[in-house]
This record gives sequence, C-alpha cells and structure tokens, in this order.
Amino acid sequence: MQRIKIADLLRSNEIGKTFTVKGWVRTRRGNKQVNFVALNDGSGINNLQIVVDMNQFDESLIRRITTGAALSVEGELQESQGSAQKVEILAKKIEILGDCDPEKYPLQPKKHSLEFLREIAHLRFRTNTFGAITRVRHAMIFAVHEFFNKKGFYNIHTPIITGSDAEGAGEMFQVTTLDLDNLPRDEKDKIDYSKDFFGKPTNLTVSGQLEGELAALAMSEIYTFGPTFRAENSNTSRHLSEFWMIEPEMAFYDLNDNMDLAEEFLKYLIQYALDHCMDDLLFLSKRQQDEEKNKKEADRSIELIEKLRFVLENSFVRLTYSEAIKILENSKPNKKGKFQYPIQGFGTDLQSEHERYLVEKHFKKPVILTDYPKEIKAFYMKLNEDNSTVRAMDVLFPQIGEIIGGSQREEDYEKLVKRMQEMNIPEEEMWWFLDTRRFGSVPHSGFGLGFERLMLFVTGMTNIRDVIPFPRTPKNAEF
Ligand code: 4AD
Ligand code: MG
Repeated sequence: MQRIKIADLLRSNEIGKTFTVKGWVRTRRGNKQVNFVALNDGSGINNLQIVVDMNQFDESLIRRITTGAALSVEGELQESQGSAQKVEILAKKIEILGDCDPEKYPLQPKKHSLEFLREIAHLRFRTNTFGAITRVRHAMIFAVHEFFNKKGFYNIHTPIITGSDAEGAGEMFQVTTLDLDNLPRDEKDKIDYSKDFFGKPTNLTVSGQLEGELAALAMSEIYTFGPTFRAENSNTSRHLSEFWMIEPEMAFYDLNDNMDLAEEFLKYLIQYALDHCMDDLLFLSKRQQDEEKNKKEADRSIELIEKLRFVLENSFVRLTYSEAIKILENSKPNKKGKFQYPIQGFGTDLQSEHERYLVEKHFKKPVILTDYPKEIKAFYMKLNEDNSTVRAMDVLFPQIGEIIGGSQREEDYEKLVKRMQEMNIPEEEMWWFLDTRRFGSVPHSGFGLGFERLMLFVTGMTNIRDVIPFPRTPKNAEF
C-alpha cells in the first residue's frame, strides 16, 4: 500500500479508509488496554496519533516503539476522541523499520536547550523547532525564486572559487592544493602560486556581486542566490562563516529603485511565510513566548505574527547616514554612555546596537539608511557629488540590525579606477570588471540579503546557528 504523508492525512476527512504512514516516534504513552503513539515524518508540525489496541499486538513489538524508532503503520482513519487532534489512525499492522535504543538516544521526549541541540545537529531535525525552521527555510528559498521569476529576473550561478575580493575586506578563506608543509618558493623566497592548482592565489567568494554585475550589464535584471564565505573572526549570534546570500543586480536602477525593490522583496517574503507557514509560525511564536516568559514585560519581543504583520503594514523609514548620526548623537544611550561604541560624529561605523536603537527605539519601524561615508563602504559604490559619501543603502530590521546591504554602483570608469587606487584594490586583477565600464556602461544598482538574517527575523529565533542546518563559525565545522 502506498504511503501517505502525515500532513496530507491530517487534512483528509476520509474516515474509515485504510492508509499507510511512515515516520519516527516522538512519544508513546497509554495503559494496558491502549497506547497512543505520536508519529512525525517531517511533513508538518503536527504529529499523527496512532491508536494501538494492546490486545492486537505482541508485547515484544510494542516495547520496540520507543522515541526515535522508525515505523510503518497501516490502519484506519477515524475521528479522534481526544481534543488535541481531529483524526487519528487505528493501527492494524505495525512494522518497526528502525529500532532506537532509548538508553542511548540523545533526544528525550522533553525540552532540550538550543545549545545542546547544536551539539547534536545531526539529530535536531527530529525536534519540533528544527522541523518548523527547516520547513520555513524551504518556503523562503522557494519564495525568493518565485519573486524574481515573476519579475523577469534571471538567476545566475556565480563562481564559488574566485581570484578577487569583492568586498575588499580581506576576510577570505584561501583555496589551494599546495602542500602547506612544503610550499614551493620563487627566487625571492615568496610562495610560488604558479604551482598552485589555478596558477594563482584563489579563495572562496565573499559575494557574487561582481560577476552579477557583468550579467546585469547584458541581461538587465539578474539575481544570484549562493553560499558565501567570510573568515571574519566575529563570534556573534548574527554572523556565520558560511552563509547564503541573495544578490539582485539591476541595470538602469538608481538608489531609489533599489530601495523600492528591497522593500517590496522583504515584504513579499514575509507575506509568503504568513500565507504558507502559519502552523509552523504559530508553533515558533509560542516557543518564543515560552522562552521569554521569565523576562520582564519590557524586555519581551512582540508576538511573532504580529511583528511580521507590522512590517508588512508599514513603509520603511528612509534617511541618510548623516541624519542618523545626528539622532544617535542626541540619543539617551549615547549621552548616558550606554553604547559600547560611542558615536563619534560623521565617519563612525555603525554597530548593531546603533542600528537597533534607530529601528526599535527611535522609529519603531524598519529603516533604510543611505549615503554613508565612502571610507566605511566598498570600492564599487557610486560616489555622490559631495565627494565624501556614496550611494549606499543598508536596510535595518528590529532584532537583527542590518539585513540588507547594497548600493548604486559607480558606472564611471575614471571614478571607479580612482576609488580602487585609493582603496588598494589591484586594478590588473579586475580588468574584466572595469571592462563593463569601458563598454556600454549604464547606471545600475543591487543589494545583498543575508538569507539567515531573514530566517532569524521570520522565525523569531535569536541565534543564527539555529536557522541553518549545519552552522560554520570560528572553531566549529562539525557535521
Ligand atoms: O553588506 P554585505 O557585506 O554586502 C555585500 O556583500 C554586497 N556585495 C551585497 C550587494 O550589494 N550585492 O552583505 C550583505 C548581507 C548583509 O546585509 C547581511 O544580511 C549578510 O549579507 N551578512 C551576513 N550574514 C551572516 N553572517 C555573516 N558573516 C554576514 N555578513 C553579511
Ligand atoms: Mg554590509
């Protein structure tokens, strides 16, 4: 008999019909007459209740129905007497597909801390929380592609191994096949990269943008959605060494068009989650409230679904970096010395504490900051007339801080070369990037959305290690 997924069965009302389900046992409880097994196959947050008439089955078989065991069950769909579910399966045949020794199984039918679950990331998919996150993550990936497909953007696969540092921040993982214990040297005793696999130094990409720009300057509107790697040693709850980034790049877009697209995109994704993931969001909302119940009222987050709706219903506030600095300078926490990094006028690089102050305390809405000082932004951003700021935009979200970073790009060859020289970006290695400014250059813009930052926002989770299946962070590459 063909297997039906539990989520589909729970929606079904074919009472009296026989079905086969397969999945993993979450719990078994009951008495000498009847046992209730909660079965989950990952198709939804809700378990299927299997009713086991103890007189119909061998005790030896029933003893093997332990938390974590895999079962195949054939039985009849019936209306449930219990209030927790509408329907349940009355078991006729039970087959143990995989035993699970309860003495040794790390996941017990109780609440485990997120820290502990990170240590058993190979098993945490089997928890309610990670099941929900996995489904929401999938829905968000799908929604990203749907959004851009509807708008006529082309998806471009940009290289993962590159020879350039797109962000110019030097936070790259080197890719090499050289023997590190026995490096080839040239006459000057420098490492001889001509002997390396690609004949030159290479690294994992920090961004697909530069190649994305090449495609946009022919295809008009493109996007990349790929893994990016950053060897920055920041052990925070919002940084990963390997994360996924969505980077649209659009010819003929100025900074305002870019901001409009970013806002529309984020709202689309959030609306999609509300439309397609409500069961999981309700679970995650309750989870967050449980987690915070010992906190003071003022420190609690707003309810997850309310928070998501709030973003949909409000326009993002748009202001310049310079205006933001004034607000921050005059803010209470700055005056009282409460910021870990005090605001030191124009030029201060904003930290997440400042970003969150603007969003959570001052405006109480998502904020887009523009026109940052050129010194604290990447070389490719378009220089303003003032010669001191660039047409950058950072989208700041409550709880997260920066969720999107982007800009209008410098399309002028001379100005771009000058910026590269000022910032010590090697021109000769970027000849292909500069060529786009020599041949039919046009105004263009783009941005990057950190996919796991989006996931933090949509799920209400607070640590980025919990919204990606296998996090990579400094000193941690298990699994
Ligand atoms: O602001 P970033 O560094 O911008 C770029 O990489 C540009 N090339 C994007 C573009 O214009 N096409 O990174 C973009 C976003 C950030 O806003 C943040 O959401 C996320 O990527 N991000 C990280 N997410 C997790 N871990 C990290 N270490 C991250 N660094 C950046
Ligand atoms: Mg940034």
